[in-house]
Amino acid sequence: MKKFGNLKKDGATRERHAETKLSARDLILPFFAIRGRNREEKIPGFGPVKRYSKEKLLAAASKAAEKGIYKFLIFGSVDEVYKDEKASYGVSGLGPVEAAVYDLKKYLPISTVITDVCLCAYTNHGHCGVTRNGKINNEETIQLLAKMAVNHAASGADLVAPSAMMDGQVGAIRKALDKNGYGKTGIMGYSAKFASAFYGPFRSAANSSPAFGDRKTYQMDYRNINQAMDEIKADIDEGADIVMVKPAAHYLDIIRQARNRFGKIKIAAYQVSGEYMMIKAAAKAKILDEKEAVLESLTAIKRAGADLIITYFAKEAAQWL
Ligand code: PBG
Repeated sequence: MKKFGNLKKDGATRERHAETKLSARDLILPFFAIRGRNREEKIPGFGPVKRYSKEKLLAAASKAAEKGIYKFLIFGSVDEVYKDEKASYGVSGLGPVEAAVYDLKKYLPISTVITDVCLCAYTNHGHCGVTRNGKINNEETIQLLAKMAVNHAASGADLVAPSAMMDGQVGAIRKALDKNGYGKTGIMGYSAKFASAFYGPFRSAANSSPAFGDRKTYQMDYRNINQAMDEIKADIDEGADIVMVKPAAHYLDIIRQARNRFGKIKIAAYQVSGEYMMIKAAAKAKILDEKEAVLESLTAIKRAGADLIITYFAKEAAQWL
């Protein structure tokens, strides 16, 4: 008879036999970049997460780096006046993301900077693509995403992360990056991104709730696993360096299946804003212990097969590890 009890008898023994080891190096911290100078804003419904203009963002990133967090995912957030039908400001190359990325790479060169590539923060209707007669136009959208990706690369992004869930977006971006001399800029595909109720606080942060309809015509149906594998395979074929499953906690089966199926490719999982706020709210209400819950959830995501985890808890988790 196996005596697993012997492996649990004390902390040192448990540590020696632990099969999954979470480290600060696995974690990616998201930031929301805004225009202006020395600005920081609270985000309704998103706890302590804030939006920062570039110098505040750099300061926050430097603090995270002191705790061992060097990987950052940058989103843009702008006021209504900077939004239109075609996300013009988002593809202008003059936005808060480019400014933040440039400073991060210049003053914190040890960092890995990943940028979110999507139109939803810059369209006046809040959808991830440009629309024609109320429908998302895939082809037109991927050209704009490619342009945005080239701008991010020009600002110094190490990787770009297309999250619009348009067909062929990874391929179009890879082609545009190569053509413009950014062959070394990588791509992290939001490959299996599900239409989810857990993005609420993020949409408040990016000011990007769709004005009509929902995202179900381009994001994935959470009932499907085979389709998720097809989406991931397509991104790998189109040249993604990292593929992502999002959200994370309710999708551990998707992460595990991708891990088993796609061998060596790096897999990232996104513990999204709703997952984050559930733990925050429960901890605040003294329903559970924040530290224990965070470490358990992140370790479970790693155990499922994720190499990298995007989490708003990155800095705290690094401190606790
Ligand atoms: C935009 C985007 C979203 C998230 C990341 N990129 C929101 C959405 O698709 O509606 C969600 C991240 C989070 O909830 O933390 N395409």
